[in-house]
Amino acid sequence: MRVSRSVQWGSLTGMRKVETPEQMTEEYRATLIKIVYALASTEFASVEQHQPWINQAPTAEDRFIQAQIAADEAHQGFIDCRMLRHFGQEGEDMADRLLALRMGQHPIAAFNVPMDSWVEVVGFCFCMDLVAWYHLRAMEDCSYAPLAREMTTMVGEERFHASFGARRIKDLVRDQRYQGLCKAGPAEAQKAVDKWYPHALDTFGSAGSKFSELAVGYGIRKWGNEELRQMWRQDIDPQIEKIGLVVPNSEAGRIIR
Ligand SMILES: [Fe+2]
Ligand SMILES: [Fe+2]
Repeated sequence: MRVSRSVQWGSLTGMRKVETPEQMTEEYRATLIKIVYALASTEFASVEQHQPWINQAPTAEDRFIQAQIAADEAHQGFIDCRMLRHFGQEGEDMADRLLALRMGQHPIAAFNVPMDSWVEVVGFCFCMDLVAWYHLRAMEDCSYAPLAREMTTMVGEERFHASFGARRIKDLVRDQRYQGLCKAGPAEAQKAVDKWYPHALDTFGSAGSKFSELAVGYGIRKWGNEELRQMWRQDIDPQIEKIGLVVPNSEAGRIIR
């Protein structure tokens, strides 16, 4: 994805992209810092979630990929924190606060939920990393140039995590050898999808969010919360059906709407 020099959508369309916080209006700054903070809050949190599985995944490739995912999330966390620090004292404090948080304290609920089995790790990658991919895709070529530039690597990282999840969830349903290695099959795969599906839907945020509207208007995100949630559903639901699993009820277990 190429990064253009001018703003591509929203009320600032055609203007030169924003390069530093000094160029921002108060509302733009508040909207952007909220997005970067939310993003940053997920990265080191998911390193915490993945970390135990680097040494426990069933195959050598799975272990390597867990290590790669943890490295990617740490890379994203490092970049997000550096971006927060560009905002001066407020951003410095936010980054410091995030780095002190541990599982159970993270602001987004799904990132406080441990992965209790390898199958749950696979379900997380399948559901939650696809959420991450949509979130990041929405910021490709966005109006804040430093963020747009980072998307050129981060989007690909999330695509990799999500497609790993999609491949392994299918193996759990269809591949006898893999089922043997994981001591699990379709029933466990279904349970893992059931566990993460509502969390994934919640992670897109509330449909009526004023902040989501501002983010689109300022060219920071291409799509709003609800639009992204529906894009995710239209992507994952046919995948779930094609594997031979049941799409969970989209209202069950939800906290945020
Ligand atoms: Fe991430
Ligand atoms: Fe990820």
